[in-house]
Formats: sequence, structure tokens, C-alpha cells
Amino acid sequence: MEPWLELDRLGLAENGVRIVEDISLKVSRNRTAILGPNGAGKSTLLRLMHGLLRPGTGRILWPLALTQAMVFQRPVMLRTTALANIEYGLDLRGVPATERHARALAALQRVGLPELARRQARRCSGGEQQRLALARAWALEPRVLFLDEPTASLDPASSREVERIVNEIAAAGTKIVLTTHNLGQARRLADEVIYLEEGRVLEQTPVDEFFRQPRTNAAARFIRDEG
Ligand SMILES: Nc1ncnc2c1ncn2[C@@H]1O[C@H](COP(=O)(O)OP(=O)(O)O)[C@@H](O)[C@H]1O
Ligand SMILES: [Mg+2]
Repeated sequence: MEPWLELDRLGLAENGVRIVEDISLKVSRNRTAILGPNGAGKSTLLRLMHGLLRPGTGRILWPLALTQAMVFQRPVMLRTTALANIEYGLDLRGVPATERHARALAALQRVGLPELARRQARRCSGGEQQRLALARAWALEPRVLFLDEPTASLDPASSREVERIVNEIAAAGTKIVLTTHNLGQARRLADEVIYLEEGRVLEQTPVDEFFRQPRTNAAARFIRDEG
């Protein structure tokens, strides 16, 4: 498998405190979960990958120059309708006005929320807003989608729905990289786990193997304590 993302000795410190440290890895799978306890540096690593943070040291390489989008833990919706939120994202990417409406509607349909088109996005429930955020990102047709704890603030029913959508996005050919501290979610959505603790990558392991026989004691402990 050809790597599509490479991190070379990546590091980031804030005020002298190291947040991620000396991370070198290659991502070549289609579904990667960055797993680890709270404060491990998962969100920071994801933001570095997506280019929202500039690395303090090291480099990030995109050998295939894939287009990317990101969905955040708490979606930020504009103060307008659900449909207009998606159209605006398309506008920013230079999609012609004549195509925006149809593409935005199609995206709403794919996340199962066509009836919300005219609703004010900020009046939608947390679960609906997360699905709108997925629709907004998916409408851009990114080759890679980064998801930061996509179900962390949702109830179980909304979480299941979000996982179903993420699965569909991946099945339709978009590569996904998601952060989670939820073992079940990593197992259900990923084919590879990058295990992070205290800003360091302790292992990068195919998902079956990670849960059957983790390579590090730290990961084994995390699986035991969280499982
Ligand atoms: N801008 C920042 N300045 C200082 N510390 C930060 C900053 N961003 C994150 N941190 C710290 O870095 C650590 C990792 O944060 P984060 O990437 O959010 O972890 P995770 O997503 O795994 O919970 C935490 O201890 C957090 O408090
Ligand atoms: Mg986080």
C-alpha cells in the first residue's frame, strides 16, 4: 500500500510544554483511528495533519496531494439555514452557484436530513448539527476526511447514526482519519489504530491485532481499563 500521508519527526510545543513529540509515521490505510486517553494529543495531531496547526519541528508530506476536509467535535454552524450552511462551504471551494443547491441537497439526503433544509442550523439538535457538519464536509467530496471525536458529545442513538454516516463516507471512497477515546468506535470504524499517549505514538497496528494483542503494555492497559 502506498502511503498518502507521511509525518516526519513531527513535534509541537506550547509555552515550552511538549504537546506532540517526535512523531514519524506513514498512513496508507483507508480508515485510521487515532486512539488514546484524554490529553494524549489526539486533537492536536489531527489539526497538524489537516494543516490547522503549524508544526514546531518536522514535516508533513502529502505524496498524493489529496483534497481534505475536517469535522470538529462540536460543529460550528453559521446563523442561517442548514442548506445555506452546506452551500456556503461549496461556495468557498469555488463550486459554481448553479451547482451548489443540488449538491447541498444531495448531501443532506445522504445524511438522512432532507427535511431540515430550511431549518435554522443552530436550532437543530446536537446530533442533527453533527450530521449537518458531516453533510457539509462530504459535499466537498474530499479524498480525506478528518474527524475529531465525532460522537463525543452525542447520545447513543445520535452516535450510532453518525457512525453509520462515517461508514458510508468511507465506503464511498473517502479516506478517514478519526480521533477517539472510544474503543468500540475504533473497532467499528477503523482498519488501523495509531495509539497515542502523552504526545507520543506508541504503536500503529492493524485494528484486529491491536485489540487481540497490542504491541505495548500501555495500549494493553488502556484496552483493559476502557473495555
Ligand atoms: N494551544 C495549547 N496550549 C497549551 N496546551 C495545549 C494547547 N493545546 C493543547 N494543549 C494541551 O496538550 C495536551 C493534548 O491536548 P489535545 O490534543 O487536545 O489532547 P486529546 O485530544 O488527546 O484529548 C493537553 O494536555 C492539552 O491541555
Ligand atoms: Mg481531543
